Amino acid sequence: MNDTLFAVSNQVVIVSGGSRGIGRAIAQGFAERDAKVIITGRDELSLVAAAEQISAKAGSVTPIVCDVAKLADIERLVAKVIADFGHIDTLVNVAGVNRRKPALDVSEDDYDFILDINLKGAFLLSQAVGRHMVERGSGCQINIASINTDRPLKDVLPYAMSKAGIAHMTRGLAVEWGPSGVRVNGIAPGFILTDLTQKLWSDEKLQAWGKANTPQRRLGVPEDMVGTAIFLASPAASFMTGQTLYVDGGYTAGWAWPIPEGGGQR
Ligand code: NAI
Repeated sequence: MNDTLFAVSNQVVIVSGGSRGIGRAIAQGFAERDAKVIITGRDELSLVAAAEQISAKAGSVTPIVCDVAKLADIERLVAKVIADFGHIDTLVNVAGVNRRKPALDVSEDDYDFILDINLKGAFLLSQAVGRHMVERGSGCQINIASINTDRPLKDVLPYAMSKAGIAHMTRGLAVEWGPSGVRVNGIAPGFILTDLTQKLWSDEKLQAWGKANTPQRRLGVPEDMVGTAIFLASPAASFMTGQTLYVDGGYTAGWAWPIPEGGGQR
């Protein structure tokens, strides 16, 4: 059987924050499946290097510099992709940042830095690409949320607020654009080892806690996100919109607690 249920070949896919980490793994996953992938990021050197490295292993990947905190960059990106590729099938909103500190220590600059990129930037990019998709009558958007979306971890409140906003944005855009054939879904990753979190997880005590509280007993890697992203962009998810899927090794499924062996019966 020539199964096209999960096919994304020939799709034109934009991945924001595609130079490293989760975005890079997702970009490579699409490129390996013959999609035409555009990766974006702020720093031209690292972006071009990432595109060359992925292209050498997988299909073609085009780097376009775009700081999602700058509306002019977003408009330039979308215009260029449409001019060069004709249309956009899928947008994956990955670009994100964090500054970890207690709420009482968060400065206005910390707050603006995180929210401008994680939420306002994601919204403006979704909107710019959405205008094109709604007019075209088809398209798919995938937003990267977090386990902080529903229950905030301690000391990352502006980040958690931005990710709660991402899930709400996902539902709201799904409601508005569903009639126009545009689907919007999200992925909420668990604890994933990337540059964003490497320093944190190098703390052995924290790593032991993360593994103990993840039913699959390991932290995630960026490649763990690829299958879900491909699924959401493929015909297999054609009747699915407004949902955020948790890809977290079971971390949010329930609570591990230090109950004695045997359920405390003995
Ligand atoms: P990372 O730091 O390795 O990668 C972040 C990417 O976003 C980089 O490519 C960076 O260049 C890009 N970026 C940052 N600011 C940008 C801007 N203003 N404009 C354009 N690109 C920008 O981080 P990681 O871990 O791969 O995170 C990717 C996404 O996944 C983020 O939205 C993050 O919040 C989310 N996430 C990560 C988790 C983790 O455990 N690593 C867990 C849950 C969500």
